Amino acid sequence: MTHRAALERLERLGREAREGGGAARLKAQRARGKLSARERIDLLLDPDSFVELDRFVTHRSTDFGLAGRRVLGDGVITGYGTIRGRLVYLFSQDFTVFGGSLSEAHAEKIVKIQELALKNGAPVVGLNDSGGARIQEGVISLGGYADIFLRNTLASGVIPQISVILGPCAGGAVYSPAITDLVYMVRGTSFMFVTGPEVVKTVTHEDIDKEGLGGADVHASVSGVAHFAHDSEAESLAAVRELFRFIPANNAERPPRGESDDPHDRRSARLLEIVPESPNRPYDIVDLIREVIDDGAFYEVHAGFARNLVTGLAHLGGHSVGIVANQPAVLAGVLDIDSSDKGARFVRFCDAFNIPLVVFEDVPGFLPGVGQEHGGIIRHGAKLLYAFCEATVPKVTVIARKAYGGAYDVMNSKHVRGDVNLAWPWAEIAVMGPKGAVEILFRREIADADDPGAAIEARMAEYREKFAHPFIAAARGFVDDVIDPRDTRPRLINALDMLSSKRDANPPKKHGNIPL
Ligand code: HXC
Repeated sequence: MTHRAALERLERLGREAREGGGAARLKAQRARGKLSARERIDLLLDPDSFVELDRFVTHRSTDFGLAGRRVLGDGVITGYGTIRGRLVYLFSQDFTVFGGSLSEAHAEKIVKIQELALKNGAPVVGLNDSGGARIQEGVISLGGYADIFLRNTLASGVIPQISVILGPCAGGAVYSPAITDLVYMVRGTSFMFVTGPEVVKTVTHEDIDKEGLGGADVHASVSGVAHFAHDSEAESLAAVRELFRFIPANNAERPPRGESDDPHDRRSARLLEIVPESPNRPYDIVDLIREVIDDGAFYEVHAGFARNLVTGLAHLGGHSVGIVANQPAVLAGVLDIDSSDKGARFVRFCDAFNIPLVVFEDVPGFLPGVGQEHGGIIRHGAKLLYAFCEATVPKVTVIARKAYGGAYDVMNSKHVRGDVNLAWPWAEIAVMGPKGAVEILFRREIADADDPGAAIEARMAEYREKFAHPFIAAARGFVDDVIDPRDTRPRLINALDMLSSKRDANPPKKHGNIPL
């Protein structure tokens, strides 16, 4: 073959590979309100940075008429490029080719980039839009999924793994995103479920549509499977780009520093107003967080799920930090099953990727109730405790108001290796709140009193004076300092600077046994 003919063939096949499943199926894709697999890559990556691999791969099936139907690329576009100038590997499933279903060849392409990413220490972003296992390939396809799950697991904690769900993701296929660090979904077009509405109807007689069973809002607020829900694919992909401002490429790197003109020594009088004087009045902890961090720019993670605990990423004096904060505006900021799960997973994500933890604490304790106890609050609450205990990144806590009971220990107390623990002067650090304590300690006295209400009030005032302040903890060194709240930002930045060369390790072990 002449060079010219060879080049012509390359060009022709290259064109064919870009066509995917053809114009009609692309039209149907658009009619569903979805972008093409290549448009998604263009939105995700820096312009002209994408390098495609394996564009000429095809399936090897012959059953059910597949022999004559080979499409170059086999339903998934794989390769690498950059986000904010940093290397990232990706796959983008093409629903126009056999419904983006996963064949042996399709799985091999994904595995190849997973292995490249692991070897080269760079994140993987998966753009999922697939009808699941390629039915014609049977167990070979199931094996392909397992090959991916294994690499997901081996890469966990080594490189960040991000899943964006942009279409169906059903059956066992959901378990690859589930193992990854962060899951993004789009309202109206993305779905995740182990069994779809028809099977649910047959088995449990429950009538529900796809959105109600496994849509973005359900997973971002009820099940907690997804960390983000957006209204459009463009927003979702932009949010993934934004994430790269905070995360390192791998577990041996530090996260990127944030550039900002926000002065490190900025004091804030507003902090005095955000927290109400009455210990039982709610307020929005996100206002407090935004007031302290660089430029108020908070990348909240899992915002719609277990809203009594706030988790998210920010920069503080340029340091990338993971923020964990009780939210007094929701359920008074108590810890419960879901918030414990949410917090534990986030703390472990930050710890795996060298992102220091900053905790804003205002917690009345764990949520009482039969539902919580029978649901395993002991097991779930232990996850958050375990996660803070094992974390070796710099760990800083500010007690903004209440720190009661076991929750005091859990929320990155000094005792679980908090490096710098600060309290505001009105912080209440005690076994329990004044009313509960008085009713237990002085039950008989109150019962015998002529005016039980007045007796309770008198004892509560005494209790507050004795216990509900930060100076007993400070006298023991359990908080390193009681600070003027206006100084919170400079003090936190100073602490993070001081801790920037922190080295700490856990005892050698195969792995711990976090209570799952
Ligand atoms: C092969 C598939 C396919 C599949 C879809 N297609 N799913 N081909 N294997 N799993 C093909 C269709 O034949 C069709 O081909 C094209 O993709 C588009 O599909 P439609 O049905 O026309 O699209 P739509 O109406 O939008 O419905 C999408 C869908 C539906 C909801 C995903 O196709 C569907 O239910 N597919 C099967 C889903 C499923 O049960 N998968 C197995 C899950 S179990 P043409 O040629 O007409 O364009 C699983 C196990 C994982 O995945 C195991 C891990 C351990």
